[in-house]
Amino acid sequence: MKVLVIGGGAREHAICASLAKSVRITELHCAPGNAGIAEIARIADVSASNISNLKYYVKQQGIDLTIVGPEQPLCEGIVDSFRADKLRIFGPTKRAAELEGSKIFSKELMKKYGIPTARFEVLDSAQRALEVLEAFELPVVVKADGLAGGKGAVICKTRDDAEKTIHGMMEDRMFGSAGERVVIEEFLEGTEISLFALVDKYTVAPLIPARDYKRVRDGDEGPNTGGMGSFAWIHLLDSKTMKKIEEEILVRTVLALRAEGITYNGVIFYGLMLTRRGPMVLEYNCRFGDPETQVVLPLIRNDLLDLFEATIENKLTDVDLDFSEQAGVCVVLASEGYPGDYLKGRTVIGLDNPLGDDVYVFHAGTKKLGDKVVTTGGRVLSVCALGDSIEAARKKVYENVDVIHFDGVHYRTDIAAGVKS
Ligand code: AMP
Ligand code: GLY
Repeated sequence: MKVLVIGGGAREHAICASLAKSVRITELHCAPGNAGIAEIARIADVSASNISNLKYYVKQQGIDLTIVGPEQPLCEGIVDSFRADKLRIFGPTKRAAELEGSKIFSKELMKKYGIPTARFEVLDSAQRALEVLEAFELPVVVKADGLAGGKGAVICKTRDDAEKTIHGMMEDRMFGSAGERVVIEEFLEGTEISLFALVDKYTVAPLIPARDYKRVRDGDEGPNTGGMGSFAWIHLLDSKTMKKIEEEILVRTVLALRAEGITYNGVIFYGLMLTRRGPMVLEYNCRFGDPETQVVLPLIRNDLLDLFEATIENKLTDVDLDFSEQAGVCVVLASEGYPGDYLKGRTVIGLDNPLGDDVYVFHAGTKKLGDKVVTTGGRVLSVCALGDSIEAARKKVYENVDVIHFDGVHYRTDIAAGVKS
Protein backbone atom coordinates (compact mmCIF):
# COMPACT_ATOMS: atom_id res chain seq x y z
CA MET A 1 0.00 0.00 0.00
CA LYS A 2 1.00 3.57 -0.62
CA VAL A 3 0.23 5.80 2.34
CA LEU A 4 0.37 9.60 2.67
CA VAL A 5 0.62 11.39 6.03
CA ILE A 6 -0.38 15.07 6.05
CA GLY A 7 1.53 17.43 8.34
CA GLY A 8 5.10 18.31 9.22
CA GLY A 9 5.50 18.26 12.99
CA ALA A 10 6.86 15.81 15.54
CA ARG A 11 3.39 14.30 15.81
CA GLU A 12 3.50 13.40 12.12
CA HIS A 13 7.06 12.12 12.48
CA ALA A 14 5.81 9.79 15.22
CA ILE A 15 2.89 8.67 13.04
CA CYS A 16 5.27 8.02 10.12
CA ALA A 17 7.71 6.12 12.37
CA SER A 18 4.94 3.80 13.58
CA LEU A 19 3.57 3.30 10.06
CA ALA A 20 7.06 2.61 8.73
CA LYS A 21 7.04 -0.58 10.80
CA SER A 22 4.04 -1.93 8.89
CA VAL A 23 5.07 -4.61 6.40
CA ARG A 24 2.05 -3.83 4.23
CA ILE A 25 3.26 -0.34 3.36
CA THR A 26 5.37 -0.23 0.23
CA GLU A 27 5.62 3.54 -0.02
CA LEU A 28 5.23 6.08 2.76
CA HIS A 29 4.80 9.73 1.72
CA CYS A 30 4.51 12.86 3.85
CA ALA A 31 3.32 16.38 2.95
CA PRO A 32 5.14 18.63 3.74
CA GLY A 33 7.23 16.65 6.30
CA ASN A 34 10.55 17.81 7.77
CA ALA A 35 14.21 16.74 7.89
CA GLY A 36 13.51 13.83 10.26
CA ILE A 37 10.53 12.53 8.33
CA ALA A 38 12.63 12.69 5.14
CA GLU A 39 14.73 9.80 6.52
CA ILE A 40 11.75 7.43 6.53
CA ALA A 41 9.24 8.81 4.01
CA ARG A 42 9.12 10.46 0.61
CA ILE A 43 8.62 14.18 1.04
CA ALA A 44 5.81 15.78 -0.98
CA ASP A 45 6.29 19.49 -1.38
CA VAL A 46 2.62 20.28 -0.78
CA SER A 47 1.23 22.41 2.03
CA ALA A 48 -0.92 20.62 4.64
CA SER A 49 -3.62 23.25 4.15
CA ASN A 50 -3.95 23.05 0.37
CA ILE A 51 -6.70 20.46 -0.05
CA SER A 52 -6.89 20.55 -3.84
CA ASN A 53 -3.13 20.15 -4.29
CA LEU A 54 -3.10 17.29 -1.76
CA LYS A 55 -5.86 15.59 -3.69
CA TYR A 56 -4.00 16.06 -6.95
CA TYR A 57 -0.86 14.54 -5.38
CA VAL A 58 -2.81 11.54 -4.08
CA LYS A 59 -4.29 10.83 -7.51
CA GLN A 60 -1.03 11.38 -9.34
CA GLN A 61 0.94 9.09 -7.00
CA GLY A 62 -1.79 6.46 -6.64
CA ILE A 63 -1.91 6.80 -2.85
CA ASP A 64 -4.20 4.17 -1.26
CA LEU A 65 -4.72 5.80 2.12
CA THR A 66 -4.24 9.32 3.54
CA ILE A 67 -3.80 10.10 7.25
CA VAL A 68 -4.48 13.68 8.37
CA GLY A 69 -2.36 15.07 11.25
CA PRO A 70 -3.48 18.67 11.91
CA GLU A 71 -6.99 20.03 12.57
CA GLN A 72 -7.12 22.73 9.95
CA PRO A 73 -7.64 20.57 6.84
CA LEU A 74 -10.14 18.42 8.79
CA CYS A 75 -12.16 21.46 9.84
CA GLU A 76 -12.03 22.69 6.24
CA GLY A 77 -13.51 19.45 4.93
CA ILE A 78 -10.61 17.47 3.47
CA VAL A 79 -12.32 14.19 4.38
CA ASP A 80 -15.56 15.14 2.63
CA SER A 81 -13.60 16.26 -0.40
CA PHE A 82 -11.54 13.04 -0.61
CA ARG A 83 -14.55 10.81 0.01
CA ALA A 84 -16.45 12.54 -2.79
CA ASP A 85 -13.73 11.21 -5.12
CA LYS A 86 -13.68 7.79 -3.43
CA LEU A 87 -10.23 8.37 -1.94
CA ARG A 88 -9.61 6.59 1.38
CA ILE A 89 -8.75 8.95 4.21
CA PHE A 90 -8.46 8.71 8.01
CA GLY A 91 -10.19 11.50 9.94
CA PRO A 92 -13.62 12.99 10.68
CA THR A 93 -15.80 14.84 8.20
CA LYS A 94 -16.13 18.60 8.38
CA ARG A 95 -19.31 18.36 10.39
CA ALA A 96 -17.80 15.86 12.86
CA ALA A 97 -14.65 18.00 13.15
CA GLU A 98 -16.84 20.79 14.57
CA LEU A 99 -16.14 19.06 17.86
CA GLU A 100 -12.86 20.98 17.71
CA GLY A 101 -13.72 23.63 15.12
CA SER A 102 -16.46 25.24 17.20
CA LYS A 103 -16.31 25.51 20.99
CA ILE A 104 -19.96 26.55 20.91
CA PHE A 105 -20.95 23.40 19.06
CA SER A 106 -19.04 21.19 21.50
CA LYS A 107 -20.20 22.96 24.66
CA GLU A 108 -23.83 22.87 23.55
CA LEU A 109 -23.52 19.21 22.65
CA MET A 110 -22.15 18.46 26.13
CA LYS A 111 -24.91 20.42 27.81
CA LYS A 112 -27.67 18.80 25.77
CA TYR A 113 -26.46 15.25 26.43
CA GLY A 114 -25.32 15.59 30.05
CA ILE A 115 -21.59 15.24 29.43
CA PRO A 116 -19.76 16.76 32.41
CA THR A 117 -18.08 20.07 31.54
CA ALA A 118 -17.53 23.54 33.02
CA ARG A 119 -20.61 25.77 33.38
CA PHE A 120 -20.66 28.24 30.49
CA GLU A 121 -22.45 30.94 28.51
CA VAL A 122 -22.30 31.58 24.76
CA LEU A 123 -22.03 35.24 23.71
CA ASP A 124 -22.28 36.95 20.37
CA SER A 125 -21.74 40.55 21.45
CA ALA A 126 -19.03 42.14 23.58
CA GLN A 127 -21.66 44.08 25.52
CA ARG A 128 -23.55 40.94 26.55
CA ALA A 129 -20.27 39.20 27.32
CA LEU A 130 -19.28 41.97 29.72
CA GLU A 131 -22.65 41.74 31.47
CA VAL A 132 -22.52 37.95 31.79
CA LEU A 133 -18.96 38.11 33.07
CA GLU A 134 -20.27 39.52 36.36
CA ALA A 135 -21.95 36.19 37.12
CA PHE A 136 -18.65 34.25 37.05
CA GLU A 137 -16.14 33.93 39.84
CA LEU A 138 -12.44 34.51 39.21
CA PRO A 139 -10.44 33.14 37.59
CA VAL A 140 -12.71 32.86 34.56
CA VAL A 141 -12.01 31.33 31.16
CA VAL A 142 -12.78 33.15 27.90
CA LYS A 143 -12.66 31.06 24.71
CA ALA A 144 -12.91 32.06 21.07
CA ASP A 145 -15.47 29.88 19.28
CA GLY A 146 -13.31 28.95 16.29
CA LEU A 147 -9.79 27.68 15.65
CA ALA A 148 -7.10 29.97 17.04
CA GLY A 149 -3.93 27.91 16.77
CA GLY A 150 -4.15 26.70 20.37
CA LYS A 151 -4.27 30.25 21.74
CA GLY A 152 -8.04 30.67 21.86
CA ALA A 153 -8.61 29.76 25.54
CA VAL A 154 -7.56 32.50 27.94
CA ILE A 155 -7.58 32.05 31.69
CA CYS A 156 -8.28 35.46 33.21
CA LYS A 157 -7.26 36.10 36.80
CA THR A 158 -8.83 39.56 37.09
CA ARG A 159 -11.98 41.21 35.71
CA ASP A 160 -9.73 43.63 33.92
CA ASP A 161 -7.96 40.73 32.13
CA ALA A 162 -11.31 39.22 31.19
CA GLU A 163 -12.64 42.52 29.82
CA LYS A 164 -9.50 43.06 27.78
CA THR A 165 -9.71 39.52 26.41
CA ILE A 166 -13.35 39.98 25.42
CA HIS A 167 -12.56 43.27 23.68
CA GLY A 168 -9.52 41.73 22.00
CA MET A 169 -11.43 38.76 20.63
CA MET A 170 -14.79 40.31 19.80
CA GLU A 171 -13.94 43.86 18.78
CA ASP A 172 -10.27 43.97 17.82
CA ARG A 173 -10.63 40.54 16.18
CA MET A 174 -7.29 39.20 17.40
CA PHE A 175 -8.31 35.76 16.08
CA GLY A 176 -10.26 37.06 13.09
CA SER A 177 -13.73 35.59 12.67
CA ALA A 178 -12.88 32.78 15.15
CA GLY A 179 -13.54 35.27 17.96
CA GLU A 180 -16.81 36.68 16.62
CA ARG A 181 -18.58 34.60 19.23
CA VAL A 182 -17.07 33.50 22.54
CA VAL A 183 -17.71 31.08 25.37
CA ILE A 184 -17.24 32.28 28.93
CA GLU A 185 -16.83 29.43 31.37
CA GLU A 186 -16.02 28.59 34.95
CA PHE A 187 -12.42 27.74 35.76
CA LEU A 188 -11.90 24.10 36.71
CA GLU A 189 -9.26 23.00 39.17
CA GLY A 190 -7.64 19.60 39.04
CA THR A 191 -5.28 17.38 37.10
CA GLU A 192 -5.36 17.55 33.32
CA ILE A 193 -5.37 14.37 31.23
CA SER A 194 -5.24 13.87 27.48
CA LEU A 195 -7.00 10.77 26.29
CA PHE A 196 -7.22 9.72 22.65
CA ALA A 197 -9.83 7.27 21.43
CA LEU A 198 -10.24 5.66 18.03
CA VAL A 199 -13.87 6.03 17.09
CA ASP A 200 -16.00 4.41 14.41
CA LYS A 201 -19.70 3.75 13.92
CA TYR A 202 -19.84 1.03 16.59
CA THR A 203 -16.87 1.41 18.91
CA VAL A 204 -14.97 3.87 21.08
CA ALA A 205 -11.49 2.48 21.76
CA PRO A 206 -9.45 4.55 24.23
CA LEU A 207 -5.67 4.56 23.85
CA ILE A 208 -3.11 5.24 26.58
CA PRO A 209 -3.76 8.21 28.90
CA ALA A 210 -1.20 11.01 28.77
CA ARG A 211 -0.46 14.43 30.14
CA ASP A 212 1.09 17.40 28.42
CA TYR A 213 2.94 20.44 29.72
CA LYS A 214 1.74 23.61 28.02
CA ARG A 215 3.67 26.36 29.82
CA VAL A 216 7.10 27.29 28.55
CA ARG A 217 9.05 27.19 31.81
CA ASP A 218 9.61 24.81 34.71
CA GLY A 219 6.99 24.85 37.44
CA ASP A 220 4.28 25.73 34.87
CA GLU A 221 5.49 29.31 34.60
CA GLY A 222 5.44 31.58 31.60
CA PRO A 223 3.17 31.73 28.56
CA ASN A 224 1.36 28.81 26.93
CA THR A 225 3.05 26.98 24.06
CA GLY A 226 2.08 24.26 21.62
CA GLY A 227 3.39 21.82 24.27
CA MET A 228 6.82 21.49 25.91
CA GLY A 229 6.66 17.86 26.91
CA SER A 230 4.43 14.95 27.83
CA PHE A 231 4.25 11.52 29.35
CA ALA A 232 2.00 8.51 28.87
CA TRP A 233 1.38 5.40 30.91
CA ILE A 234 -1.39 2.81 30.71
CA HIS A 235 -1.83 2.83 34.50
CA LEU A 236 -2.02 6.62 34.82
CA LEU A 237 -5.73 6.39 35.68
CA ASP A 238 -7.14 3.88 38.16
CA SER A 239 -9.79 1.53 36.81
CA LYS A 240 -12.66 3.24 38.63
CA THR A 241 -11.81 6.65 37.14
CA MET A 242 -11.26 5.10 33.72
CA LYS A 243 -14.66 3.39 33.85
CA LYS A 244 -16.36 6.65 34.81
CA ILE A 245 -14.62 8.46 31.96
CA GLU A 246 -15.60 5.76 29.49
CA GLU A 247 -19.25 5.80 30.49
CA GLU A 248 -19.91 9.46 31.18
CA ILE A 249 -17.62 11.01 28.61
CA LEU A 250 -16.18 8.77 25.88
CA VAL A 251 -19.27 6.78 24.96
CA ARG A 252 -21.76 9.53 25.76
CA THR A 253 -19.98 11.90 23.36
CA VAL A 254 -20.14 9.46 20.49
CA LEU A 255 -23.79 8.65 21.18
CA ALA A 256 -24.52 12.38 21.35
CA LEU A 257 -22.92 12.89 17.94
CA ARG A 258 -24.91 9.99 16.56
CA ALA A 259 -28.13 11.44 17.96
CA GLU A 260 -27.27 14.61 16.03
CA GLY A 261 -26.87 12.53 12.87
CA ILE A 262 -23.07 12.56 12.87
CA THR A 263 -20.95 9.43 12.43
CA TYR A 264 -17.41 10.01 13.62
CA ASN A 265 -14.56 8.02 12.07
CA GLY A 266 -11.15 8.97 13.34
CA VAL A 267 -9.52 9.89 16.60
CA ILE A 268 -11.17 12.02 19.28
CA PHE A 269 -8.77 13.74 21.65
CA TYR A 270 -10.56 14.21 24.95
CA GLY A 271 -8.98 17.02 26.98
CA LEU A 272 -10.09 16.19 30.51
CA MET A 273 -9.81 17.71 33.96
CA LEU A 274 -10.00 15.37 36.95
CA THR A 275 -11.86 17.59 39.41
CA ARG A 276 -13.31 17.02 42.86
CA ARG A 277 -16.68 16.78 41.12
CA GLY A 278 -15.31 13.98 38.90
CA PRO A 279 -13.77 13.94 35.42
CA MET A 280 -14.94 16.78 33.15
CA VAL A 281 -14.30 17.73 29.53
CA LEU A 282 -12.17 20.83 28.94
CA GLU A 283 -12.18 20.46 25.19
CA TYR A 284 -12.31 18.04 22.30
CA ASN A 285 -9.89 17.87 19.41
CA CYS A 286 -10.57 16.05 16.17
CA ARG A 287 -7.00 14.75 15.76
CA PHE A 288 -4.05 13.33 17.64
CA GLY A 289 -2.39 15.69 20.16
CA ASP A 290 1.10 17.05 20.00
CA PRO A 291 3.32 16.18 21.98
CA GLU A 292 1.24 13.32 23.48
CA THR A 293 1.29 11.29 20.24
CA GLN A 294 5.08 11.08 20.42
CA VAL A 295 4.80 8.96 23.59
CA VAL A 296 1.45 7.23 23.03
CA LEU A 297 2.19 5.66 19.65
CA PRO A 298 5.51 3.99 20.59
CA LEU A 299 3.59 2.23 23.40
CA ILE A 300 1.06 0.68 21.01
CA ARG A 301 2.11 -2.76 19.79
CA ASN A 302 -0.53 -3.14 17.09
CA ASP A 303 0.25 -2.32 13.48
CA LEU A 304 -0.90 1.32 13.27
CA LEU A 305 -2.03 0.80 9.67
CA ASP A 306 -4.44 -1.92 10.86
CA LEU A 307 -5.87 0.48 13.42
CA PHE A 308 -6.36 3.27 10.88
CA GLU A 309 -8.00 0.95 8.37
CA ALA A 310 -10.27 -0.63 11.00
CA THR A 311 -11.40 2.87 12.04
CA ILE A 312 -12.28 3.85 8.50
CA GLU A 313 -14.05 0.58 7.77
CA ASN A 314 -16.09 0.50 11.02
CA LYS A 315 -14.27 -2.65 12.08
CA LEU A 316 -12.77 -1.43 15.36
CA THR A 317 -14.90 -4.00 17.23
CA ASP A 318 -12.68 -6.72 15.74
CA VAL A 319 -9.43 -5.13 16.92
CA ASP A 320 -7.58 -6.23 20.05
CA LEU A 321 -5.56 -3.28 21.20
CA ASP A 322 -2.20 -4.30 22.58
CA PHE A 323 -0.48 -1.74 24.82
CA SER A 324 2.94 -1.82 26.42
CA GLU A 325 3.07 -1.61 30.22
CA GLN A 326 6.03 0.74 29.90
CA ALA A 327 5.90 4.50 30.42
CA GLY A 328 6.95 7.12 27.86
CA VAL A 329 8.32 10.61 28.46
CA CYS A 330 8.83 13.34 25.84
CA VAL A 331 10.83 16.58 26.17
CA VAL A 332 10.51 19.29 23.52
CA LEU A 333 13.59 21.27 22.49
CA ALA A 334 12.53 24.78 21.46
CA SER A 335 14.15 27.72 19.68
CA GLU A 336 15.38 30.87 21.36
CA GLY A 337 12.44 33.23 21.82
CA TYR A 338 9.69 30.60 21.48
CA PRO A 339 6.69 30.89 22.04
CA GLY A 340 7.21 34.51 20.95
CA ASP A 341 9.15 35.45 17.82
CA TYR A 342 11.99 33.00 17.57
CA LEU A 343 15.28 32.65 15.72
CA LYS A 344 15.71 30.18 12.86
CA GLY A 345 18.55 28.67 10.86
CA ARG A 346 20.57 27.33 13.79
CA THR A 347 22.56 24.15 13.13
CA VAL A 348 21.48 21.16 15.18
CA ILE A 349 24.37 19.02 16.42
CA GLY A 350 24.38 15.63 18.12
CA LEU A 351 21.71 14.02 15.97
CA ASP A 352 24.20 11.47 14.62
CA ASN A 353 24.95 10.06 18.06
CA PRO A 354 23.54 6.56 18.35
CA LEU A 355 20.36 6.57 20.40
CA GLY A 356 19.89 4.16 23.27
CA ASP A 357 17.24 1.42 23.25
CA ASP A 358 13.73 2.79 23.25
CA VAL A 359 14.84 6.37 22.60
CA TYR A 360 13.29 8.34 19.72
CA VAL A 361 14.00 11.78 18.36
CA PHE A 362 11.06 13.17 16.39
CA HIS A 363 11.63 16.29 14.32
CA ALA A 364 9.28 19.28 14.17
CA GLY A 365 10.83 22.54 12.93
CA THR A 366 13.85 21.26 11.00
CA LYS A 367 15.11 21.15 7.44
CA LYS A 368 18.16 19.82 5.68
CA LEU A 369 20.67 22.36 4.39
CA GLY A 370 23.43 20.50 2.55
CA ASP A 371 24.48 17.83 5.01
CA LYS A 372 23.41 19.87 8.03
CA VAL A 373 20.08 19.94 9.85
CA VAL A 374 18.97 23.48 10.70
CA THR A 375 16.10 24.83 12.79
CA THR A 376 13.05 26.28 11.02
CA GLY A 377 10.39 26.32 13.73
CA GLY A 378 9.64 27.23 17.33
CA ARG A 379 9.45 23.67 18.51
CA VAL A 380 12.40 21.89 16.92
CA LEU A 381 12.65 18.34 18.26
CA SER A 382 10.76 15.94 20.53
CA VAL A 383 13.15 13.69 22.42
CA CYS A 384 11.30 10.65 23.79
CA ALA A 385 12.18 7.57 25.79
CA LEU A 386 10.37 4.51 27.10
CA GLY A 387 11.19 2.89 30.42
CA ASP A 388 9.82 0.44 32.95
CA SER A 389 8.59 3.32 35.08
CA ILE A 390 7.95 7.01 34.48
CA GLU A 391 11.07 7.74 36.53
CA ALA A 392 13.20 5.41 34.38
CA ALA A 393 11.85 6.89 31.14
CA ARG A 394 12.42 10.39 32.48
CA LYS A 395 16.03 9.64 33.39
CA LYS A 396 16.71 8.16 29.96
CA VAL A 397 15.10 11.04 28.09
CA TYR A 398 17.14 13.71 29.87
CA GLU A 399 20.39 11.79 29.26
CA ASN A 400 19.61 11.98 25.55
CA VAL A 401 18.46 15.61 25.62
CA ASP A 402 21.91 16.53 26.87
CA VAL A 403 23.71 15.25 23.77
CA ILE A 404 21.67 17.30 21.28
CA HIS A 405 22.35 20.99 20.92
CA PHE A 406 21.69 24.16 18.90
CA ASP A 407 22.35 27.76 19.85
CA GLY A 408 19.62 29.21 22.04
CA VAL A 409 17.94 25.84 22.71
CA HIS A 410 15.64 25.74 25.71
CA TYR A 411 13.53 23.02 27.27
CA ARG A 412 11.81 22.19 30.51
CA THR A 413 13.71 20.14 33.06
CA ASP A 414 10.64 19.08 35.06
CA ILE A 415 8.66 17.00 32.56
CA ALA A 416 7.11 14.03 34.43
CA ALA A 417 8.95 15.03 37.60
CA GLY A 418 7.37 13.73 40.79
CA VAL A 419 4.87 11.48 38.98
CA LYS A 420 4.65 8.06 40.62
CA SER A 421 4.46 4.83 38.66
P1 AMP B 1 -8.69 24.63 25.11
O1 AMP B 1 -8.25 25.50 23.99
O2 AMP B 1 -10.15 24.65 25.39
O3 AMP B 1 -8.08 23.31 24.99
O4 AMP B 1 -7.94 25.10 26.42
C1 AMP B 1 -6.55 25.15 26.48
C2 AMP B 1 -6.09 24.92 27.89
O5 AMP B 1 -6.66 25.90 28.74
C3 AMP B 1 -6.54 23.59 28.48
O6 AMP B 1 -5.70 22.55 28.13
C4 AMP B 1 -6.48 23.91 29.96
O7 AMP B 1 -5.16 23.85 30.44
C5 AMP B 1 -6.95 25.33 30.00
N1 AMP B 1 -8.41 25.40 30.23
C6 AMP B 1 -9.38 25.44 29.30
N2 AMP B 1 -10.60 25.52 29.87
C7 AMP B 1 -10.39 25.52 31.19
C8 AMP B 1 -11.26 25.57 32.33
N3 AMP B 1 -12.57 25.66 32.20
N4 AMP B 1 -10.68 25.54 33.55
C9 AMP B 1 -9.34 25.47 33.69
N5 AMP B 1 -8.49 25.43 32.67
C10 AMP B 1 -8.99 25.45 31.43
N1 GLY C 1 -1.40 18.72 23.28
C1 GLY C 1 -2.49 19.54 23.01
C2 GLY C 1 -2.89 19.60 21.60
O1 GLY C 1 -2.37 18.90 20.75
O2 GLY C 1 -3.80 20.35 21.29
